[in-house]
Amino acid sequence: MESDINLGLEDVFIKHTSLTYIDGIKGILRYRGYDINDLVSNCSFEEVSYLMIYGELPNKKQLDEFTKELKEHYKLPRHVLSLISELPRDSDALTMMETAFASMSSGEYSWNKENDRKQATKILGENLGIISNIYRHKMGLRLKEPDPKYGYAEAFLRNCFDNVTEDEINAMNAALIIYIDHEVPASTTAALIAASTLSDMYSCITAAIAALKGPLHGGAAEAAFNQFLAIKKPENVDSWFEDNIVNKNKKLMGFGHRVYKTYDPRMKIFKSIAEKLAITDDEKNLLKIAENLEDLGIKRFSSKGIYPNTDYYSGLVFNEIGFPVYTFTVLFGFSRVLGWVAHISEYVENEERLIRPRAVYIGPGEKQFKKIDER
Ligand code: ACO
Repeated sequence: MESDINLGLEDVFIKHTSLTYIDGIKGILRYRGYDINDLVSNCSFEEVSYLMIYGELPNKKQLDEFTKELKEHYKLPRHVLSLISELPRDSDALTMMETAFASMSSGEYSWNKENDRKQATKILGENLGIISNIYRHKMGLRLKEPDPKYGYAEAFLRNCFDNVTEDEINAMNAALIIYIDHEVPASTTAALIAASTLSDMYSCITAAIAALKGPLHGGAAEAAFNQFLAIKKPENVDSWFEDNIVNKNKKLMGFGHRVYKTYDPRMKIFKSIAEKLAITDDEKNLLKIAENLEDLGIKRFSSKGIYPNTDYYSGLVFNEIGFPVYTFTVLFGFSRVLGWVAHISEYVENEERLIRPRAVYIGPGEKQFKKIDER
């Protein structure tokens, strides 16, 4: 019966969570009760990682111990670096990430709170080496281990670039926190489906990366940024919008959200960082284009509850830090690994059940079988 189908699983609740609270009407996002704005303004990525993994913000001693453990895992197994270096440089960055994570799966894993916390910390540490080296490989640079002298955001940027500023480190730290988790979007749901079969953590992450790739989810930051590049000048916004969105009936990328029917609070933070980091004429030009397009998009779509989402300005920030457009989605994935791991641990530890939906059969009734010569 058609009415039994919930296409897109809209408004279907698949688990309980203490991780992330979203109010899509008021535009509120909290991790374990803390407002995203407070966390971004006051915390390092390590502090928020501890919060997600252990359930509370750490005190100084807990943070020091956690950071020490995290840094022990900055060093990657040798085969992962060789594997990344063997991939064609023009491979998609998310495909490289999938390959790296898939190669680290041992095929089995014993799920329990203690193991899960250790494994989550190990994966976070390794993730830094994976993503920074994907960047290095795509740029034709020699692969190298991250330096454990630095905190997470700084170690990451220093493993990508020769010079980094304090503002760039702060922006990277903010981006990392903003993208950590967002309840159960497509990628987290893919990870949960894999985890519900009691697959191992690395394989669950690989499943999530596959779902993150598409332009309707993680790929939107690249798509939004490409719109700004295509528009070229702020004064072209109106005609571009008419030609591309209205006449071709296309979606405005970086706008709309299944849950938010108002401003996405993450978008506002990215916007303020993008404004702060816009220094060159090119950066200022792209920012102005984005702002003009945002105004027009809101004028046209807000009555339908369609507002800019987190991916609208994040590409500008990544570009201002110095990342090329083809890395934006993998940078989203870099941070979201923590949310995936936190959700699958929470699910398996508390309410594990095989996720196995049904499909309504609409094919032909029983047919008379004919052997190949009779067809
Ligand atoms: N531009 C124009 N119209 C839009 C947009 C948009 N960005 N988003 C939704 N709409 C319209 C649809 O055309 C549809 O109109 P209709 O009812 O007249 O047919 C209506 O709003 C509902 O849209 P759906 O796509 O059915 O809504 P859904 O909840 O499935 O979509 C989604 C959410 C996929 C994010 C959608 O808004 C979209 O495609 N946005 C562009 C891609 C994007 O920015 N994705 C990033 C999401 S955030 C993230 O993943 C981190």
